[in-house]
Amino acid sequence: MPRLPERHYIHSMTAVSRPEGAAGLSADPRLLGRAVKRIAFDAPTIQRRVRELGAEITAAYPDGDLLVLGLLKGSFVFLADLVREIGRPLHVDFLVASSYGDATESSGLVRMVYDPATTLEGKHILLVEDIVDSGRTLNKLVDLLKARAPRSLEICAMLHKNVAAGLRHQPRFVGFDAPNEFLVGYGLDHAENFRHLPYVASLKQPDTPSVAPSRR
Ligand code: PRP
Repeated sequence: MPRLPERHYIHSMTAVSRPEGAAGLSADPRLLGRAVKRIAFDAPTIQRRVRELGAEITAAYPDGDLLVLGLLKGSFVFLADLVREIGRPLHVDFLVASSYGDATESSGLVRMVYDPATTLEGKHILLVEDIVDSGRTLNKLVDLLKARAPRSLEICAMLHKNVAAGLRHQPRFVGFDAPNEFLVGYGLDHAENFRHLPYVASLKQPDTPSVAPSRR
């Protein structure tokens, strides 16, 4: 069996169920009246882990000159917090790829909607993702980015579900092993809502869903 690349994260940091906290959050005005089933990762836990990731990334790039590439839209909150914890010179750029929008099931298609303006050739690139689910997005993007001859290419994902069959490019830096549930918050959306929640939660299904439940 091939050895997996080193992954800088704490394996025991899996989701914790906090129903009592979740009950209190049902009244969160940001939730559009939806109720939280459970909080997977609360804000202080995320902040602590982001600080650790920043330190790990700082140590991994002693020469600096990093290009941090955020995959929009999901990574924008995580990236904003993460880069402020990296103690090296760096540039930031973004790319947009869309895998399945509001659809119930993944289409299997990954579409590049916006290409980074920065030249990637010869750069240390750190691709920042909010979540690795099926792995289709990463597989496609890493192939596209490698074709541009970066000096190095690593992936930092805040959440990793570890369910991807055939994931060809393992993230080197991972915030948390994520439960295989539909998660929102800290950049993750449901039909474009809830990205601004400072925590990651799963929501109770509404009695009459107005939007089809998705996979994440
Ligand atoms: C989501 C998420 C990841 C990707 C992960 O993006 O932000 O980029 O799906 O799924 P995968 O591992 O199954 O490919 P989405 O296309 O929903 O766009 P968004 O970032 O704008 O929410």
